[in-house]
Amino acid sequence: MGTIITVATQKGGAGKTTLTRILSVNLVTDGWKVAVIDADPNKGFTEWAQVYTGPSLSVHTEPDEKKLANLPADLAEQYDAVIIDTAGFGSRSMLVAIGAADGVIIPCMPDRGSVREAEQTAEWVRNLSKSTRRVIDFRVVMTGFDPRRSADKYAYEQATTGLGLPFLLARLSDRTAYQASSWSGTVPTDGVIGKEAKALSEEIITLGWLKRAASRPAGKRTAAVTG
Ligand SMILES: Nc1ncnc2c1ncn2[C@@H]1O[C@H](COP(=O)(O)OP(=O)(O)OP(=O)(O)O)[C@@H](O)[C@H]1O
Ligand SMILES: [Mg+2]
Repeated sequence: MGTIITVATQKGGAGKTTLTRILSVNLVTDGWKVAVIDADPNKGFTEWAQVYTGPSLSVHTEPDEKKLANLPADLAEQYDAVIIDTAGFGSRSMLVAIGAADGVIIPCMPDRGSVREAEQTAEWVRNLSKSTRRVIDFRVVMTGFDPRRSADKYAYEQATTGLGLPFLLARLSDRTAYQASSWSGTVPTDGVIGKEAKALSEEIITLGWLKRAASRPAGKRTAAVTG
């Protein structure tokens, strides 16, 4: 069985789709078999996948929360990683996607609203973990972060020391290249973006969220979009 990773926060525009893009492309480039479920009715990831050029990524568009309940587990039988991009509001499908997950990544921009919504989303993960009586691990990831900005550092301190939220060490810094990749259909594998994407996927592997099988065929260079 593959690992189901849900990317969620109730905050709109916090970087969920961007993070889904760089994580999925980085993993597939590294030889993992990856499926992405776009659970957002706005279909941002699906649209991007139409222009994506890179190693084969299986994309499934499923805004219907009833159908979403079974799809991740079905795909996890065939793929090493199933990554679910959720909608940016307190939708039922976000809760279904959290309930289906082995691990949840909560992107958080360094502003007050994002930190508050990250905390709320973390609370949902803890509650769903308790009600389903299984561990749903989660980590918050700073996105759009600039270490030179004192307000950004303050936001990070509030979220970590203040609220006790568990963060990944990996961060996505504030770069126009992240915006550019939403248009270009490519995700840079070199430079700062490449390094940040690599650090993110390696940390997830270190956490034990993804496990390497003995051998795995490399992906083809086309995108398969379904749904
Ligand atoms: N690290 C970053 N640096 C600069 N811009 C970023 C970064 N991450 C995301 N953005 C930009 O912020 C905007 C929102 O990002 P994105 O669409 O990934 O958020 P989202 O959480 O998926 O939004 P929604 O809730 O609408 O689905 C986009 O214009 C994106 O290009
Ligand atoms: Mg999105």
